[in-house]
Amino acid sequence: MNETASLRARAEIDLAALRANVRALRERAAGAQLMAVVKSDGYGHGAVPCALAAREAGATWLGTATPHEALALRAAGLDGRIMCWLWTPGGPWREAIEADIDVSVSGLWALREIVAAGADRPARVQLKADTGLGRNGCQPADWPELVAEARAAERAGTIRITGLWSHFACADEPGHPSIAAQLSAFRDMVAYAEKEGVEPEVRHLANSPATLTLPEAHFDLVRTGIAIYGISPAPELGTPAELGLRPVMTLTAAVALVKDVPAGHGVSYGHHYATPAETTLGLIPVGYADGIPRHASGRGPVLVGGKVRTAAGRVAMDQFVVDLGGDRPEPGAEAVLFGPGDRGEPSVEDWAVAADTIGYEIVTRIGARVPRVYVNGTADPTGSASQ
Ligand SMILES: Cc1ncc(COP(=O)(O)O)c(C=O)c1O
Repeated sequence: MNETASLRARAEIDLAALRANVRALRERAAGAQLMAVVKSDGYGHGAVPCALAAREAGATWLGTATPHEALALRAAGLDGRIMCWLWTPGGPWREAIEADIDVSVSGLWALREIVAAGADRPARVQLKADTGLGRNGCQPADWPELVAEARAAERAGTIRITGLWSHFACADEPGHPSIAAQLSAFRDMVAYAEKEGVEPEVRHLANSPATLTLPEAHFDLVRTGIAIYGISPAPELGTPAELGLRPVMTLTAAVALVKDVPAGHGVSYGHHYATPAETTLGLIPVGYADGIPRHASGRGPVLVGGKVRTAAGRVAMDQFVVDLGGDRPEPGAEAVLFGPGDRGEPSVEDWAVAADTIGYEIVTRIGARVPRVYVNGTADPTGSASQ
């Protein structure tokens, strides 16, 4: 019997919610195209079904970190524009170029590997500027040399410079001084490249928080990840509902055991919780191997039998325990760890607070052992149900 049938745990992925989120974000950035960022297996939601749903809702671009993620989308039949940005030397340049994937270049080494790849068509290259994030991207001081060499390759017919782009450091903190500084640096670096003859199809800078809060950063394209999955980029920006978004993933597990225990009973490894009185304990059969953060031990919330309970003691590899306070749900009763909130269940954001992290990490880490169950899918490119 497979995991879906046995219902130990499942992550239900509501593709109608994802489509609605993409449409809502497109309205927010009406003058720009939208890239659905589906790296890391669609932030844990499943890259291919989410990419298909995003396309249906009008996402003209798909974005991944690694070339292998981008190639997997092509192999699954996704057409149209796909871009990937996290390259290392010796990467599959030729395969990516011949699959018509836009590739990102942050330094000369990458440009030279593209030229040497000997692909059967010009590479679609997007030059990435480091406008202040201090991570990937080309420093302003090195930009003239990179632009010059890219233009030379373009004149030689080996590449076509399709985009100029960058990434924010603090877009989730509206008013942070780095935001204005990055916008200004981006405008300067774009202007320099255009003066040197670059004619990009797209200039882009905005991630989800900038898409939601900073219209002047929208340019030709917004790259939205977390928001298409219906998760708020940061609590300060508002709840998903306040942002016009609907959470896509609902994580549930079947209560595996309910039992009576006396007062003073230690619970789970280390006995960090002891029952304050005679009570009932419920066993929730998911743990840190499934992506439930051990750091949320003693804090992670879960809806059981209509009440929100808290992980009692340590989250273990495969399971954790809740104090049910005398309630006796049947074994197999549904425990909802997070979802859109319709039934009063906790949110991804609640788990992020409990684990002292961000919602991105909560969903991305949900493990491969948890089956993704797709609902409200419509069509895939070949016309059959995507489920
Ligand atoms: C380069 C780049 N663009 C866009 C995104 C999407 O960001 P968000 O999920 O905040 O929309 C990411 C994700 O981290 C990224 O690395």
